[in-house]
Amino acid sequence: MGLSNTRPEGSKEKGSAFPSLSPAELREHQQRYLEWPKPNYSLPAKLLFASTDMLFPKGRSFEYFAFLELVARVPYFAWEHVGHIAQTQNHRDHRFARKIQDRVLSSRDEQDNEFWHLLIMEEMCEQKGYKRRFLRDKLFPQVMSFLYYHLSWFLYVVYPKWSYKLNADFETHAALTYAKFVQERPDFDETPWESKYKDDYGHHKTVGDMLRQVAWDEEQHKNHSETYIKAGARFSRTRG
Ligand SMILES: [Fe+2]
Ligand SMILES: [Fe+2]
Repeated sequence: MGLSNTRPEGSKEKGSAFPSLSPAELREHQQRYLEWPKPNYSLPAKLLFASTDMLFPKGRSFEYFAFLELVARVPYFAWEHVGHIAQTQNHRDHRFARKIQDRVLSSRDEQDNEFWHLLIMEEMCEQKGYKRRFLRDKLFPQVMSFLYYHLSWFLYVVYPKWSYKLNADFETHAALTYAKFVQERPDFDETPWESKYKDDYGHHKTVGDMLRQVAWDEEQHKNHSETYIKAGARFSRTRG
């Protein structure tokens, strides 16, 4: 997506509902991700990562993360959509409809957080003078987002646990990939983070800390999906 050099005046409230951590905390979490045991990804997640690797053979880069963040928002759209359908079907049961609303609100917070990630990665691409290619940076992300949306939606309707598991895999992979990106680029800790989105996202001093914060956010997304798996993934009057 293109960004103009000027940005409309927005709210002075911080846009991300996720807290900003200190540099020391962020380094601790990065190290923890690097020490995670090898994740056991589901088959759809493996297919998704394999197709992404084909298109970004050089791996970790700001254009790769811009793609990742575009796709990352999609399950939360799908879950919000299904939540509203469930509320419509159960509109006379106010207690249950209200309970579903908590999941809808959680999906919105997560997609908002991914939105700031997306804008920040796009901004980093622009600052580096990255030239977009039609297939890789425009068509492919939109096709993948379309397919991923429908897969997330379908799984959430049929067996929600699978949809949460797919997202947890995606978020685990994202947290780990950001942690590795910062590890292999020590110069990021000497590079001041200049951004139009600091008021929205958080006032991190270096590119390294900004990326570590994004990694930590991804872990929160993963944890939320795993919490729903444990508590009972399907909307229920009695569970979760
Ligand atoms: Fe993200
Ligand atoms: Fe995420």
